[in-house]
Amino acid sequence: MVEIEAARRGCPGLARLEPGDEPLVGRLFARLSRESLYRRFFTPVQSADRFASALLRVDGMERAAVAAIEAGEVVAVAQYSRRPGAVAADMAIVVADAWQGQGIGTRLIAALADGAAAHGIQAFSVDVQGDNLGAMRLLHRVAPGMRLAFSGGVGEGTFPIGAQ
Ligand SMILES: CC(C)(COP(=O)(O)OP(=O)(O)OC[C@H]1O[C@@H](n2cnc3c(N)ncnc32)[C@H](O)[C@@H]1OP(=O)(O)O)[C@@H](O)C(=O)NCCC(=O)NCCS
Repeated sequence: MVEIEAARRGCPGLARLEPGDEPLVGRLFARLSRESLYRRFFTPVQSADRFASALLRVDGMERAAVAAIEAGEVVAVAQYSRRPGAVAADMAIVVADAWQGQGIGTRLIAALADGAAAHGIQAFSVDVQGDNLGAMRLLHRVAPGMRLAFSGGVGEGTFPIGAQ
């Protein structure tokens, strides 16, 4: 991983993840509650190893991931991926249960958006379960005014990133 922001007391640092960081992400996923795993992956998850491998197929341009790091461990990860040439990228995020509600999600999305905008990405698309209050509030904070289109209890929305 490559540091983006140094940690400060009680405030995790931020880093860009690289292929090879799977063990760190795997340990985060192994510590997540069933609810957080379900909120993130939209399916009951028994073993999250394959999700860690998929997440780390990053090239820093079409696919990238940033993490919050505390005491050498990943405590949150956000990632985007886009089809070549697309102006919008799919984005997803999860924060370790013990660290939720402390502003990490907001910081991570801002850092991820900075990197994405530098590669010409203009918007993030997100899927969120309609009863996921934490994610709804996070999205309200980072994308005020974004409308979600609902189908089968899952809302899908797109919000602009980078210089407006
Ligand atoms: C959704 C999630 C990423 C938010 O990250 P976070 O670091 O907790 O978010 P922040 O601390 O930056 O807070 C953003 C807002 O969400 C609220 N929030 C965060 N977690 C919450 C929770 N579990 N319940 C209610 N509100 C919550 C915060 O209070 C804040 O609200 P405010 O702007 O009104 O003050 C995190 O709760 C999580 O990982 N959830 C499980 C996975 C998930 O739902 N991913 C999203 C779908 S891909």
